[in-house]
Amino acid sequence: MTLRSVVCGVGHYLPERVVPNSAFEATLDTSDAWIRSRSGIERRHFAAAGECTSDLALAAARAALDDAGLSADSLDTVIVATSTPDFTFPSVASMVQGALGMRGGFAYDLQAVCAGFVYGLANADALIRSGQARRVMVIGAETFSRIMDWTDRSTCVLFGDGAGAVILEAAEGAGSSADRGILAVDLHADGSQKAILHVDGGVSSTGTAGQLRMQGKEVFRHAVEKLAATAQAALAKAGVTPDNLDWLVPHQANLRIIRGTAAKLGLPMARVVVTVQDHGNTSAASIPLALSVAHAEGRLKPGDLVLTEAIGGGLAWGSVLLRW
Ligand code: UT7
Repeated sequence: MTLRSVVCGVGHYLPERVVPNSAFEATLDTSDAWIRSRSGIERRHFAAAGECTSDLALAAARAALDDAGLSADSLDTVIVATSTPDFTFPSVASMVQGALGMRGGFAYDLQAVCAGFVYGLANADALIRSGQARRVMVIGAETFSRIMDWTDRSTCVLFGDGAGAVILEAAEGAGSSADRGILAVDLHADGSQKAILHVDGGVSSTGTAGQLRMQGKEVFRHAVEKLAATAQAALAKAGVTPDNLDWLVPHQANLRIIRGTAAKLGLPMARVVVTVQDHGNTSAASIPLALSVAHAEGRLKPGDLVLTEAIGGGLAWGSVLLRW
């Protein structure tokens, strides 16, 4: 018998305000055509004034609980992957736990930027498999609109706000790749690459939130190479091949990166979930948002083999293979 972490609910929330690419044309030397052709992004959602990451996370959490048919009290743990928390502390996760009315359990944030949700799944799986928790909610929630430099056309047109949540619960498996649940995890970081993607402020340095700085071309180069490698590593750990995959659900940063990774794996785009056109890059929220959209559309079916992968600031990257 092998303990597995099986998805039993998924949900998401997007702020009401939708901003099309054309909205940037008035203030920046950019165009809808450039943004579409270089990134695949057509629109993104931005949080309203006063709407915070915890509000987005809470709405996604409630949607996931509804989807699972569970009450908040049945959760042992809430993990929120975010780089844009409401406050330095408390954690967004504990704010969500409180707002859900949970009377027990534990809650914490995890920060691995765009790879945060993949790291969060790995963390939840470790808690479940070690017997420390039986039911864990992993949320990716971000308000990247709050750390944009609105004069920098090379970054501010790429990001958006949103949240997605997944509930994992312990279940017995046979120990084979036919089991439902998380089958393999592959995580990496390379702190020597800090300069190519970072925020230029923070609590103990500037005392400000800072703004996102990115050398896009460099990050792109790392992404294409590292995402295919981590995907292959996770598949190898589970003893399966790309042919066995039903779905690739990648981090949604750039359609060209997504296409490049799918091509390296030999996967047709019909088996790739793509939401970047509607959400932009929502960092840690992008994968759970994509999972939730695909689930709502009836594309993800129980038993489907799903690979998620992401890379972001750190650099931090990795992948998780699971059977839905
Ligand atoms: O989620 C975290 C991980 N992040 C990523 O994965 C992002 C990775 N990088 C990318 O997605 C792409 O590199 C970008 C979309 C950011 C940029 O695409 P690119 O094809 O690498 O363009 P580039 O940075 O090489 O820029 C090409 C040109 C430059 O002009 P020159 O130097 O050739 O004259 C830029 O100044 O495009 C210019 N440019 C723009 N033009 C119009 C940059 N941003 C814009 C813009 N509108 N918004």
